[in-house]
Amino acid sequence: MNTVASRLIHSKPSVSRLCTLAASRDARYLSTDSNKVDEPFKVEEAETVNVPPPPSDKLLVLGGNGFVGSHICKEALDRGLSVASISRSGRPSIQEAWANNVTWHQGNLLSPDSLKEALDGVSAVISCVGGFGSQSYMYKINGTANINAIRAASEKGIKRFVYISAADFGVVNYLLKGYYDGKRAAETELLTKFPYGGVILRPGFIYGTRNVGSVKLPLGVVGSPLEMVLQHAKPLSQLPLVGPLLTPPVNVTAVAKVAVRGATDPVFPPGIVDAYGIQRYTQQKSR
Ligand SMILES: NC(=O)c1ccc[n+]([C@@H]2O[C@H](COP(=O)([O-])OP(=O)(O)OC[C@H]3O[C@@H](n4cnc5c(N)ncnc54)[C@H](OP(=O)(O)O)[C@@H]3O)[C@@H](O)[C@H]2O)c1
Repeated sequence: MNTVASRLIHSKPSVSRLCTLAASRDARYLSTDSNKVDEPFKVEEAETVNVPPPPSDKLLVLGGNGFVGSHICKEALDRGLSVASISRSGRPSIQEAWANNVTWHQGNLLSPDSLKEALDGVSAVISCVGGFGSQSYMYKINGTANINAIRAASEKGIKRFVYISAADFGVVNYLLKGYYDGKRAAETELLTKFPYGGVILRPGFIYGTRNVGSVKLPLGVVGSPLEMVLQHAKPLSQLPLVGPLLTPPVNVTAVAKVAVRGATDPVFPPGIVDAYGIQRYTQQKSR
């Protein structure tokens, strides 16, 4: 523990982060700013050892057939893990070789019984389940569905669970209340049920190649240049209301790498990793 603690790097909480804290009081943040004893802690960055996981590790990706989920499945296979996915539609139409190496389950997280079999023998879970729609639908898919999965995984004694959440977007949070309320409720459940192995990624916009049927959409055309500009705009992100809109976009492969590390590295610190944290983790060299 001392080693992990000594690797944490100081960070000053921003206004936007404090707003975030107010919105999710129960969430656990880690920091090492000893002058701010009354403030919750947040993991800003920690150096973990990026070594390949044991080959026996089995990862279950919830929503492994989606945009982020498919990149996570591919990254986990590249790192030698055994990979399974569960989603309502099961195996996607992707005609790529890696898809043959994933065990595709069909199930709906809103009916938790359909998840039980898929959790057998699993050592870690990553959830990419989320979506948009009416306010109540957004709460169910981002919140209830993930809360069901977190509880089922905890009952099975699984040690690590990574949830792909989302960065706050200031005023947008009010328009997408169901989405953000659902995300924050799932985060709270995760930190409660997985105090030592719960990792929350909070990216802003995620760019990369999205498969839509047989068509590949290159979302990087917009996201990549924006990331270059906005990764240096961290002080501006502290401005009230508009600041959160300046959260830099992150590449989907970066999200996938950090998610797989969070699920497999036993010293990856539990807690929240924001867009800047995702960028920093991916810049760390593998050893
Ligand atoms: N894309 C972004 O820019 C972005 C930014 C920030 C955060 N995020 C978050 O990252 C996560 C992944 O996003 P994405 O863009 O990859 O979304 P996506 O492509 O729509 O993937 C969502 C996945 O969830 C599955 N799913 C939805 N409802 C389900 C249910 N009831 N039971 C089981 N599976 C269900 C979907 O598969 P089926 O339809 O087959 O069930 C799909 O695999 C989401 O939580 C999203 O909020 C995304």
